[in-house]
Amino acid sequence: MAERSAPIGVMDSGVGGLSVLAEIQRLLPNESLLYVADSGHVPYGEKTPDYIRQRLRRIAEFFQAQGAKAMVLACNTATVAAVADLRELYPDWPLVGMEPAVKPAAAATRSGVVGVLATTGTLQSAKFAALLDRFANDVRVVTQPCPGLVERIESGDLDSEPLRQLLQGYVQPLLAAGCDTLILGCTHYPFLRPLLATMVPADVAIIDTGAAVARQMQRLLVERNLLAEGPAREAAFWSSADPQLLSSVLPVLWHESGNVQRFQL
Ligand code: DGL
Repeated sequence: MAERSAPIGVMDSGVGGLSVLAEIQRLLPNESLLYVADSGHVPYGEKTPDYIRQRLRRIAEFFQAQGAKAMVLACNTATVAAVADLRELYPDWPLVGMEPAVKPAAAATRSGVVGVLATTGTLQSAKFAALLDRFANDVRVVTQPCPGLVERIESGDLDSEPLRQLLQGYVQPLLAAGCDTLILGCTHYPFLRPLLATMVPADVAIIDTGAAVARQMQRLLVERNLLAEGPAREAAFWSSADPQLLSSVLPVLWHESGNVQRFQL
């Protein structure tokens, strides 16, 4: 039986999940948080589902060994590939995955055209096709895979000229197609909001699901009487790449520096 004071494990293929970690910390400040950046294997967006499932099994084992009371897949690509597998392996463990915000975007669009920026893996998945079938019957959805963005964000680049050009090349066709709502379907992309704001008209809505994931985690913890009473321990970080790389971008992508350990099983 997990304890209320046990930590929540949050993972991503790299630093993208820090955008979700921030939402969890904002909503649930009493919770102690563990974060694994699988940066030694990034980008997941270009890997096979089987490869990603193997990685997720290892990360889930690690969180279990750390005594985590719940796990968040703060990664759309990992969710489509592996959340079903993990739910089967750990049927009683609260697990929260994430998916592109098609439902809220379909409700919000006035032009009837919605754009989705996401990884190739997410956009090609059966889970994403099912999401469109379910929620996007009355709108047109234009999808845009964005290879290269994740690697730039991993290195802490949020505003260089090459990044601007790359992003512009992905966003322009969506605007030209009449999209008035853009879904950020990869947890790395919320870090590009300031840059996006310089290239997208002010009346185009930009939606991501970090806050919704935090609310879902809260619901699961309340249901199981597992909400922590605090105080939270300081967030702890692991990376499967050189820990120094994550340490060096934490002050930019997280609100403070942190101690990063090497992730290995
Ligand atoms: N941050 C991840 C997502 O939400 C994936 C990025 C990647 O590794 O390709 O999809």
